[in-house]
Amino acid sequence: MSLKEQINKEKLPAHLAIIMDGNGRWAKQQGLMRVVGHENGTKSVRQTVEACAELGIKNLTLYAFSTENWNRPKLEVQTLMRLLVKSLKKEIKTFQDNNIKLCAIGNLNDLPKKAHQELLGVIEKTKNNSNMTLTLALSYGSREEIVNVIKELSVKVKNNIISSESIDESIINKHLYTQNLPDVDLLIRTSGEQRISNFLLWQIAYAELYFTDVLWPDFSKENLYEALINYQNRERRFGKTSEQLT
Ligand code: FPP
Repeated sequence: MSLKEQINKEKLPAHLAIIMDGNGRWAKQQGLMRVVGHENGTKSVRQTVEACAELGIKNLTLYAFSTENWNRPKLEVQTLMRLLVKSLKKEIKTFQDNNIKLCAIGNLNDLPKKAHQELLGVIEKTKNNSNMTLTLALSYGSREEIVNVIKELSVKVKNNIISSESIDESIINKHLYTQNLPDVDLLIRTSGEQRISNFLLWQIAYAELYFTDVLWPDFSKENLYEALINYQNRERRFGKTSEQLT
């Protein structure tokens, strides 16, 4: 049986999130410039998006650019923004063909005007698609997201729109960028690094974490299937005992 056939379609993660890491190291290994790694990383983005849509995963969130990534060399930041624009222009057809709705989370106003406009254009054009929601985290930082929620809720309490006693997990969820997404079930990070890097800290409270040594430009559909099979073989207890689950 192929890896794809081993995946149980009834037990797919409702929300898969990926930290795409290792583009720079991939390029270095080949004696190429870092930006070539990012270019090749876009191929893995396409493969992964297609594979998730084919399988029936409803929500995929990709960490494409963190708030900290603005500190990278200017040329690298420019290249990443250029690749974003190029990919959006190219992939609109993939999104429409696969009925994929594009969303974005993060400080989108920080993006260069061209990238921001292109992004908003594709979001608008795909807003009625319903097979899968693809969310790009761009200029995203999870702590900043949480700080913003606290600020918004404080203002609402101050203006008597809500009471402090009414603040619960569901209210917080409704104020996060991810308000329309379920909690993350599976978080994959490529390249052998085993950390979260300020990504969806609230949303991964009960996520299964999967780390692979594969560098992002090498991450194939087969690698995704392996991660999903591994996830499906785990027992998710959500704080309960194993016996309680059966
Ligand atoms: C991490 O590799 C990757 C990024 C910071 C950017 C991810 C971007 C892409 C995959 C391409 C463009 C994306 C879209 C959605 C069009 P790294 O540079 O940190 O690698 P390193 O740790 O080996 O240096």
